[in-house]
This record gives sequence, structure tokens and C-alpha cells, in this order.
Amino acid sequence: MIPSIILTNKEQELGHLVVIVTKFSKLPAGIFNAAEKTYLKGQVETLKQDVVSFNRLSYWVYVYFIKDEKDRSKRLEESRKAGDKVAGFLNAQKAARVALFDPEGKSDEVLAFAEGMVLGSYQFLKYKKDREKENTLETIEIYTNMPEEAGEEETRITRLNILLDSVARCRDLINEPNSFLTATVFSKEVEKMAVESGAKSEVLNKQKLTALKMGGLLGVNLGSHEPPTFTVMEWHPAGAKNKKPIVLVGKGVVYDTGGMNLKPGDSMLNMKDDMSGAAAVAATLYAIAKARLPIYVVGLMPATDNRPGEKALVSGDIITMHNGMTVEVLNTDAEGRLILADALSYATQYDPSLVIDLATLTGASVRAIGKFGAVAMQAKAAKELETLKSSGYEVYERLVEFPMWDEYGEQVKSDLADLKNLGPPEAGMITAGKFLEQFTAYPYIHLDIAGPAFIEKRDAYRGQGGTGFGVRLLFDYIQKIAGTGV
Ligand code: BES
Ligand code: MN
Ligand code: ZN
Repeated sequence: MIPSIILTNKEQELGHLVVIVTKFSKLPAGIFNAAEKTYLKGQVETLKQDVVSFNRLSYWVYVYFIKDEKDRSKRLEESRKAGDKVAGFLNAQKAARVALFDPEGKSDEVLAFAEGMVLGSYQFLKYKKDREKENTLETIEIYTNMPEEAGEEETRITRLNILLDSVARCRDLINEPNSFLTATVFSKEVEKMAVESGAKSEVLNKQKLTALKMGGLLGVNLGSHEPPTFTVMEWHPAGAKNKKPIVLVGKGVVYDTGGMNLKPGDSMLNMKDDMSGAAAVAATLYAIAKARLPIYVVGLMPATDNRPGEKALVSGDIITMHNGMTVEVLNTDAEGRLILADALSYATQYDPSLVIDLATLTGASVRAIGKFGAVAMQAKAAKELETLKSSGYEVYERLVEFPMWDEYGEQVKSDLADLKNLGPPEAGMITAGKFLEQFTAYPYIHLDIAGPAFIEKRDAYRGQGGTGFGVRLLFDYIQKIAGTGV
């Protein structure tokens, strides 16, 4: 369980305390004795420590000095990282509760700090018998003596708890190995999330997918023992601000062996993460529905594993996609675009105002920008992508835009079929995006999250393993669209 954040109006008596201020002179009176003040002053002014701590026998006091940084994005990120660090100390001491005191009314930074604490306390322990290292933090109490906007603050905290729970669920789905998480189990987990959040869901089974002629998803599934699924989640509240929905599409390859073009050596190692896009879509819809945001949103999650079974696709095979286009499959490891293409084509029936897909699609995107952000591309959605990029800075899930130039599109045209699923060795993330664009006729944003979706080594509050990249980004964006960002 991750900790939850609550707003209180009273000081906590004799418990772990974090005081969050911008500078030494802003420290509230009555909390620190003279010796503590001298110590704090030395630590912050001479040693330039941003987190200072001392022990009062039965509890610890931490002071976080918010970074004097003009760039809001960086300032909030520093606060999240500091929150993660302090949560680490508290969990090591087996603390269950902590109070955050915000004497200056710096609620953005304080909530970012709390966010870092919560996400940094996330663990995936389902398969561990030894719970010795289980985190203990349960409650983060925030109090301030600036209560004017208390109602608004309450709403923000409620939403933040929903969002962070959604990120944790997204991470759980990613961290689950394929031995548990088949396409069918994935769809069942998503259905549970729909029921819990009040969203609608429907799972299209293999028979339905065959009737729908989803040749991409069925083709990738040919080498598997497990049937494919296509999960639809829908949140369509009365009083929605938009008539035409925003459709989110997520790549749900529950395991990518590469198929007949089997992945060599270590490159298969973390391929349970190849459903991170679908997990982010499910978790985002879950968050939006739970927070009852007044926006009409649909999530589409095609899912299968990619394996080299007896009937698997081989190089040169030609398949017919949901929209009737034919694709020459030159590399069975370029499977993501095949299942996404069917979903993008399927999205057309919703007459969407915008479709955003999230996919761990290419190693090329990781080579281009590493793991510090995601590759983004757009067609007919330049303004929408600008807004999404600004959400990216707000939540520190940053986006780098690449072009949709026609020349790259020429590189995925086939001599034998309408398209081929493999471009030249250069700019693989762009040719993949251009391939997908062929299946869209609406405003479209493509996010290649192959880099940031999963990290082997712990990186502050992003944790280790599935990061949940995309959930905080999309939730912030949808809140903006809904005009309910508070
Ligand atoms: N799932 C992989 C992409 C990937 C790579 C995700 C690294 C996460 C980390 C995708 O299906 C894939 O195999 N892509 C190939 C495409 C190539 C064959 C055109 C790649 O990037 O090597
Ligand atoms: Mn692949
Ligand atoms: Zn893949």
C-alpha cells in the first residue's frame, strides 16, 4: 500500500515532522529552540543542504528548504525528489505517520513533496515472502496556517490521492511478469479497475476480433498459446465538456520475445514492460473516472504476447489490417505498430477530437533521447501537442517532438503491399510513427515511451521497474481540457 495524503488543521503532537519553507528567515516561531536554529542555519547557509534533519528522541524533525529556482518545472521536481528522500528516511525508521507543515502557503511545492513521498514509497512485493523491507509510511498529514483556500486544497489532495493510486496500479500491471499477466488476465484487471472507478468496459475476444478483421492484432498473436484481447474502457459522464471524445490508445504487448525475429541476448530482459502504454491508458481512465472529471474519454487497449510459436508470422508475410490496408511484415519484432494500427483504425468510429497513443514502440527512441522523457509526434494536433508538452513540464514527464515529414512515410511503403512494418536503420522512431499515422484521419499524437516506461535502477520517486510514465501526464492534460485544474 502507498501512503495517503490528508489535510488537517491542527498540529500533530510529538510525531515526525517536516517543515517546508523557502528560506531560513521564514522558519516559523515556536517550533525550534536556539540550538536547533543555529544548527539549521549552519546546514542551510554554509553547507547548502536542502534537507536538514535532527532527532528529538521520540521523533525526527526535517526541514526542507524549497529550491530558489525560477523554473517552476525544476522547482517542483526538486520538491518531489526531496519528498522521496525524506520518505526513504522515514520508512527506514518504520514510521507510519508524518506531518508536513507549510507555514508559507507554498501548496504547489508541498503537494509535490508529498507526491514524491508517496511515489517513492511504492513497492512491488506480491512475490516476496520476506516483508522485512516493506515500507511503513501510511499517512502524510498536511497542515498550514494559511487556510483561505482550504476547499480548493481539499479537492486537489483528493485528486492527488486518486492519481497516485492510479500510478501505483499502473506500475503493478507493468511489474507483473507474463507468467501472471497474459492478455486475458490484463483485460480482467482492467475490467476490475473499470468497475471500481465507475467507468464502462468491454473486452473484445478473439472471435470478435476475427469478425472485426483485426489482422494486425491477430497476426501478432499467431505464435502465441494465449488468445489476444482488446479492452475498451469508456468514461462518458453527464455534463461532459466535450461532445467528441478524446481517445487514448495503449500498446499492450504483455511479452515481446520478438517473435520469429527472436530478440537476442539481454535485449529480451525487460520485455514484460511492453504493455506499459496499455497500463498507462487503463490507469489514466481509472483516475479520470474516480475523480469524476467532466470529460468524455475512451481507452483502447489491444493486448497479446509476441512469440515464435508454430503458427507465428514469418518475414515476408502479408496481413490485412482492420482498415483494409495490407502490410508486408518484414520483421516480426516490429509488432507494436501492427496491433496499434488496428486500434487506431478502430478509434475512427468514435469521431474523436483527438487520439493519443502511448507505446513502448522503438529502441530508436531510447537511443535518440534516453530515458529522461518520451518521443512525441503529431498530425493535425500541433496545438494539442503544445498543451501536452506543457503538462509534461508540470509533472516532469517531458516530451521531445520529432517531425512527421512525408519522406519518412515513403520509407514504410512496400512494393508488394500498401505498407511494410520496417523502415531503414535510421530514425526508427519516426518511421514507426509515420506507419501509425497511415491509420489515422483525425488529430493525432503519438508518444513513444520505450525509454521512460521502465527503469532497471531506482531513480528517486520513479522507483525501480515500471514507472507509470504517462498517467500523471495525461491526467494533468485532461484536467486542463476539463478546465478543472485547481
Ligand atoms: N518493444 C520493442 C521496443 C522496445 C525496445 C521497448 C526497448 C522497450 C525497450 C519493440 O517491439 C521492438 O522490438 N522494436 C524494434 C523495432 C525494429 C525491429 C524495427 C526495435 O526497436 O528494435
Ligand atoms: Mn518488438
Ligand atoms: Zn514490442
